[in-house]
Amino acid sequence: MIEKQLARFNRLDLISAPTALEKLERLSNWAGRDIYIKRDDTTALAMGGNKVRKLEYLAADALAQGADTLITAGAIQSNHVRQTAAVAARLGLGCAALLENPIGTEDPNYLHNGNRLLLDLFDARVELVENLDNADEQLHALAARLRASGKKPYLVPIGGSSPVGALGYVRCGLELVEQIKQTGLDFAAVILPSGSAGTHSGLALALAHMLPELPVVGVTVSRSEDAQLPKVQGLAERTAELLEVPLPQAFRVQLWDEYFGPRYGEPNAGTLAAIKLVASHEGVLLDPVYTGKAMAGLLDGIGRQRFNDGPLIFLHTGGAPALFAYPGVFAG
Ligand SMILES: Cc1ncc(COP(=O)(O)O)c(C=O)c1O
Repeated sequence: MIEKQLARFNRLDLISAPTALEKLERLSNWAGRDIYIKRDDTTALAMGGNKVRKLEYLAADALAQGADTLITAGAIQSNHVRQTAAVAARLGLGCAALLENPIGTEDPNYLHNGNRLLLDLFDARVELVENLDNADEQLHALAARLRASGKKPYLVPIGGSSPVGALGYVRCGLELVEQIKQTGLDFAAVILPSGSAGTHSGLALALAHMLPELPVVGVTVSRSEDAQLPKVQGLAERTAELLEVPLPQAFRVQLWDEYFGPRYGEPNAGTLAAIKLVASHEGVLLDPVYTGKAMAGLLDGIGRQRFNDGPLIFLHTGGAPALFAYPGVFAG
């Protein structure tokens, strides 16, 4: 039913093939538990990542509305802004972005390298702002300015996390269910980073419909459980409403908030150790802001027996371009 409802929405085909679900053999041996990885870091545009899935729906909506410019906002090292700018380039649209410096650093690598460097390649028009405390208002003001100069802007919310954007992760959830069935395995949980919440809400909604026994654990990257829970729950409710499907009884938001400190955008020792471990055992690159923290949670969860028996699935949401904004942290 959810599949049929999803098919009613316009989607641009930016990814074309399912991303792989594969076993991390050496990491599994190290951890004493089978760990699989869903490779959404390899979505086929501009170094990949989770936002391309959301943008398949958001950019389709923008084109349907006759927009000529995508506008959005995020951190200077935002993967979301990088992927939005890349999609705009692919579609021949303009892109304008408001950027904040959430960790107050003056490190030139944070200010100019990594994702920020790529924005110049995609011809994004960038404005630095003091903060994004009123992001909606700030984006609406930018849209008004662009309209006054004759443009037709389409507002992509922070992280692409509107109900339309979350459809991309409903679709990913359905894709993952097919892959899980093909393995014939009884997985114990799916673990993913939970930020602006569209990834978590969409995936958990799809799985609650299709595989209601499978827990989805969101590792928060910027908030306590109390602050994150209503965001994930509320967005899942609004996405179900948009799809005209029920929010199943099995739907439950599960969050671990012990791994994001000291704050958004700043890695801790566990984050760095997880990134190093996965890189040195698997040749797979995690990132210091999202997936490094989520993987640290997964590994600690195994150690503390927080999962039921069975193999685990890690949703790799991308982000490796940000590694180049944090040089020196892995030295020694
Ligand atoms: C690499 C990466 N992982 C995870 C997330 C979090 O996804 P969401 O914002 O949908 O919660 C983001 C968001 O920017 C991201 O860039």
